[in-house]
Amino acid sequence: MADFLSAFSIQSWLESCPQGYLEETEYGHLAGEKEPESILENDDFLEEATRTTVQLVVGERAALAASSGLINCAPDDPSKIFLATQTLDEARHVEIFTQRLYDLGVKKEDLESTLANFANPNLVKFAEVLLEKVDKRDFVAGVVGQNIVLEGMAFSVFEMIHASSKEINPKFAHTLAGTIADERRHVGFGENRIGSLIEANPERKSDIQKMQQEMTHHMLRTFSDSFQENEALVEDVHQNADPDAGPAMYQGVDLAKADSEEMQAVLTNTVLGEFKTRLARIGLEYLPPAA
Ligand SMILES: [Fe+2]
Ligand SMILES: [Fe+2]
Repeated sequence: MADFLSAFSIQSWLESCPQGYLEETEYGHLAGEKEPESILENDDFLEEATRTTVQLVVGERAALAASSGLINCAPDDPSKIFLATQTLDEARHVEIFTQRLYDLGVKKEDLESTLANFANPNLVKFAEVLLEKVDKRDFVAGVVGQNIVLEGMAFSVFEMIHASSKEINPKFAHTLAGTIADERRHVGFGENRIGSLIEANPERKSDIQKMQQEMTHHMLRTFSDSFQENEALVEDVHQNADPDAGPAMYQGVDLAKADSEEMQAVLTNTVLGEFKTRLARIGLEYLPPAA
């Protein structure tokens, strides 16, 4: 518990996060960095960037609601303290991705309608499954749903977008880099804290695995919607790509050359692989979603 206390304390959060990798950032990126003209001047690319960012805001709003909601049902103070830092992290993620929507030209008065318009309904269902557990003050299920499933997914999605943005959009890549570092901490908490609670409450296993199965089902549908919507655009991006740009490697796949189907496959395999490993570490079995 001593290691747990110091690794997930506010003190270590202060040192590593606001006084560490976020120092001198502005909305997550370096001051003065802008979205590239290639996105701002192309209606299709702009719509795609907006659509992608909307999913990030939807996911982060769910993470904010879940982490803040879990504070008051956490069984011990160290967990409450960690969740308070996580709540601030998630609020920051909501803020910086919302700011990106403004940077892409969304007007403040149009924020909610833009979110409603572009939010993937399957992602909304994914979030609802989690928030239902939080509403019932179910700490163990809530932490598995939030810190293993939602964040395991977010972590891999962010890393993939980061890989594809690094060369062509340093501003967005920087925004994502800080978020990835935050998510790594959140997933670490889930694994560290929840294993012993599952062990103490083995009767909860099947119920929690069912939640994971349901969330995975909605997640995979979200992925397939997103990559199908993207198919033509990916072609377009490849054709207009700077021939001197280097590869954009993610899990052994060059995203600068991969088609939409290959991208979906590599993301799906990565996320499901992560779920299996992390769930096994906390004593749960991964259940594949029903077809
Ligand atoms: Fe987040
Ligand atoms: Fe998070």
